[in-house]
Amino acid sequence: MSTKEAASTAPATTAAAKPDAKRPESKAIGMAFGDVWTYAPAPEARDHIKLQAKYDLFIGGKWKAPESKKYFDTISPSTEEKLAEIADASAKDVDLAVQAARTGYEKYWSKLRPLDRGKYLFRIARALQEKARELAIVETMDGGKPIKESRDVDVPLAAAHFFYYAGWADKLEHAFPGRNARALGVAGQVIPWNFPLLMAAWKLAPALAAGNTCVLKPAETTPLTALMLAQIIEEADLPPGVVNIVTGAGATGAALVGHPGVDKVAFTGSTDVGKKIQRALAGTQKKLTLELGGKAANIVFADAALDQAVEGIIGGIFFNQGHVCCAGSRLLVEEGIHEVLIRKLKDRMATIRLGDPLDKNTDIGAINSRMQLDKIRGLVAAGEAEGATRFSAPCVIPDRGYWFAPTLFTGVSQSHRIAREEIFGPVLSVLTFRTPEEAVEKANNTMYGLSAGIWTEKGAKSFWVAQRLRAGVIWANTFNKFDPSSPFGGYKESGFGREGGRQGLLAYLEVD
Ligand code: NAI
Ligand code: MG
Repeated sequence: MSTKEAASTAPATTAAAKPDAKRPESKAIGMAFGDVWTYAPAPEARDHIKLQAKYDLFIGGKWKAPESKKYFDTISPSTEEKLAEIADASAKDVDLAVQAARTGYEKYWSKLRPLDRGKYLFRIARALQEKARELAIVETMDGGKPIKESRDVDVPLAAAHFFYYAGWADKLEHAFPGRNARALGVAGQVIPWNFPLLMAAWKLAPALAAGNTCVLKPAETTPLTALMLAQIIEEADLPPGVVNIVTGAGATGAALVGHPGVDKVAFTGSTDVGKKIQRALAGTQKKLTLELGGKAANIVFADAALDQAVEGIIGGIFFNQGHVCCAGSRLLVEEGIHEVLIRKLKDRMATIRLGDPLDKNTDIGAINSRMQLDKIRGLVAAGEAEGATRFSAPCVIPDRGYWFAPTLFTGVSQSHRIAREEIFGPVLSVLTFRTPEEAVEKANNTMYGLSAGIWTEKGAKSFWVAQRLRAGVIWANTFNKFDPSSPFGGYKESGFGREGGRQGLLAYLEVD
């Protein structure tokens, strides 16, 4: 337990526990609740996981050392241990990958019957299921998310995406009846670190089903499961060059999206980088889809089932350490229930288990990187400086690794940075409203528009509100639910284009 962390995450005020500033909050929570919330450790075994010391680039169906000769480390953010060395692809390496993808397209993939392309996708989907346990453990080691999440959400959904799009591969004429749909050619795809394997599946599965070949660049802090997916693709015997995986940081991504041999760019990540890519692609023929940040409003009406709403709110912002672009990071509460809802939220937050992400009981794992932790701390400090009231759950913070206790701000006004900027951490900003009109106005008062949530027992009210929200995905009486058949994407600065569903195919097709 680091006392420095303890002080910085100590609860500002809590009715349940008033910790002595000199004592760790664990004691305070122990005093308040006894030890009923302490579970015995239940770590997922990792001794059977065999990581390579070093990973090369997957180009043209072969593993290839980078022309740059450079490698970088990927670490576990929960222990700060080095997991492996990863090839740092230069512009030359990216060029080789794009060439391989072109050859793969012309020589093999475009010549295959759609039915056979579908069979390869089914094969990948089944292999993901077979290796689900290993993939979940590596995802958790490399990125810091709880094994509960990677095992129950990330990996099964990744397999589900391949199954879903495998089914479309030979039915494109039914996806767009009466129209002529053709593949674009080579897709360059850049993905972030919050759902590393799932984002790879979101990008690759529809692109391949639509008949394109791909060069995918995973994020520099979480490359391992994409490289394991490359191994699966190799074992599935996909024709060479159909999928190429190049690792590296921003420069590698920039080389990929800027490569003249790429016909289509798909990017998920920060709004800043999204804008850079848009500028780089202006005036080219490349087709582009962007899935960027969010600042979702989770709107709770007085007639909502409050205890259910509490679970949805908690899951919606603290799940995956708040590293979710559609996280419900702004809570809009009808004034009359503000006090009771905040009390219930604080009580529930006090029972959240933060710690070893490989432990099956852990709710909140490690923050993905030191950089992201610094960003969260900076925005939380701004919230305090601007006068909002902070409550942080009384968690025991491990000695090593990057952690942030789940945090809630009340007394937030719309002009505060914590109400406007994407924090991408376990931090919830609470605002209030009096009428449905005011709720809609506040919810839409953001440059983003990715997702939103509505909690009410009145169906008519949820439809009335949903129709007025400028957000791509709207959940009612639930939050953060995903399905491959359901399109996902944003309004405004959250980006454009849709992933998932029949609509997700459109991004990878010329339809006329
Ligand atoms: P980022 O946007 O820099 O990284 C996302 C991906 O883009 C990574 O693979 C990265 O290597 C690549 N990249 C970076 N610069 C590039 C460039 N010029 N051209 C092409 N590719 C490039 O995101 P970062 O810095 O890791 O996170 C910063 C903030 O972005 C977060 O705090 C969060 O607010 C937001 N974010 C949003 C995500 C989302 O899902 N919408 C995902 C990740 C971050
Ligand atoms: Mg890592």
